[in-house]
Amino acid sequence: MDQRASHYYDTKPAQPKRRFLIKLNIRGQFLEFASSSGVFSKDKVDLGTIVLIDSLELPDSGEVLDMGCGYGAIGIAIAKLYPAIKVTMVDVNPAAVKLVRENIERNDVKNAEVLHSDLYSLLGGRSFDAIVSNPPLAAGYKTIFPMIEGAFGHLREGGFLQIVLRKGVNAIPRKMEDVFQNVTTVSKKSGYRVFRSFKNAPGNAKIRDQHD
Ligand SMILES: C[S@@+](CC[C@H](N)C(=O)[O-])C[C@H]1O[C@@H](n2cnc3c(N)ncnc32)[C@H](O)[C@@H]1O
Repeated sequence: MDQRASHYYDTKPAQPKRRFLIKLNIRGQFLEFASSSGVFSKDKVDLGTIVLIDSLELPDSGEVLDMGCGYGAIGIAIAKLYPAIKVTMVDVNPAAVKLVRENIERNDVKNAEVLHSDLYSLLGGRSFDAIVSNPPLAAGYKTIFPMIEGAFGHLREGGFLQIVLRKGVNAIPRKMEDVFQNVTTVSKKSGYRVFRSFKNAPGNAKIRDQHD
């Protein structure tokens, strides 16, 4: 028998045991999320996730990818706030993907889908106007750096990658700058920082600010 500890980012975590119902009132939307043990932030929406949702300014229409969606808080909030946007959510954890399917129904979302995918592996040549993420720090840079590199190829011209991080995680905005040649801090709140990098936006040849 495999004696390894199970992590929320494992492909095959232990069977979920406990169920939770999380309520979230954000930007005028009342949302409910079914959750369970074995997924990230199982019994309340993570503060970084809330800071990211609050920071988002998206176009009225287009396509958005929520990379590492967990039980779907970010992607479902976007789908409710921007009904003309098509949202795709992706997670490597099958328990999370199952919960997202349930949460899409529970919140009466019509403009979102979820895929059980390791990073971009099931997305083929698809591209997006924005890629958003509360990235899996627990999975390490070996997962997060390919996530940032892959974002460039899966963004449309002028699209952006926007991610939330705890204050002090500086290697990730540095990686964003290396890949996109620009990175800015769009929000600082409650010990979290939200970073955004544009793909080839006009006038964005080299933008950098302080990642404190
Ligand atoms: C910090 S959690 C954020 C979850 C959710 N977006 C939220 O804000 O509550 C990161 C998520 O990334 C997922 N993840 C880890 N490695 C992944 C990979 N290689 N491909 C896709 N998702 C991955 C984890 O399963 C986890 O659900």
